[in-house]
Amino acid sequence: MDADAQKKAAGEAAAALVEPGMVVGLGTGSTAAWFVKALAARQIDILGVPTSLATAQLAESLGLRLGELGPVKSIDLTVDGADEIGPALALIKGGGAALLREKLVWEASRRCVVIADGAKQVKALGQFPLPIEVVTFGHETTALRLCDALAECDLGVAPRLRMKDGVPVRTDGGNLIYDAACGRIEEPAALADALKSVTGVVDHGLFLDLADQALVGTPQGVVTLEP
Ligand code: A5P
Repeated sequence: MDADAQKKAAGEAAAALVEPGMVVGLGTGSTAAWFVKALAARQIDILGVPTSLATAQLAESLGLRLGELGPVKSIDLTVDGADEIGPALALIKGGGAALLREKLVWEASRRCVVIADGAKQVKALGQFPLPIEVVTFGHETTALRLCDALAECDLGVAPRLRMKDGVPVRTDGGNLIYDAACGRIEEPAALADALKSVTGVVDHGLFLDLADQALVGTPQGVVTLEP
């Protein structure tokens, strides 16, 4: 099974967890897209809460009924992808620039299931550059403060502004993303606190103590992981 087949298998396994009448958080990215497609194929009545405009568009095109976080206050189950799955189901997310909306939806959910292909499972977080969402105003200065915060965590890395086609990437909320190639994050909780203490940082891609279960596609089939 190649990576895409593993993502599809994980997405389909997660879709089987959804029960009629549930409010379901819909993640972002290629793995979450497999989940959304498998969920729509089941043709059960659910209310989906998308974590990005891209996912909203996909879900709508497949006929899923959608609501928005805010008017919808509580979510039964959220299913979403990840860039890295570390020990205790600590995650790096945000490779698709949707980390803020994802985290808001995850935190409003009673249960969160992360789905991924086998390559996403790691012994320690940090090989995947950690996405950090910052406001546009003064972002170059915020990036300098981020260097200080990372250095306090013994991570001598300068975050890089994420670009695409020669222009900075904008999140759905209009913010910018800096990526910090940490290498190996020894203390994710301390790093999370240090990053959030920087004015101008909206949020970061460390998802700690949020995932209740992981469904990971492997060549042998889908493996279930608990924290
Ligand atoms: C979106 O911002 C991310 O958090 C995605 O969930 C993550 O990048 C995983 O994406 P893939 O499923 O496409 O690998």
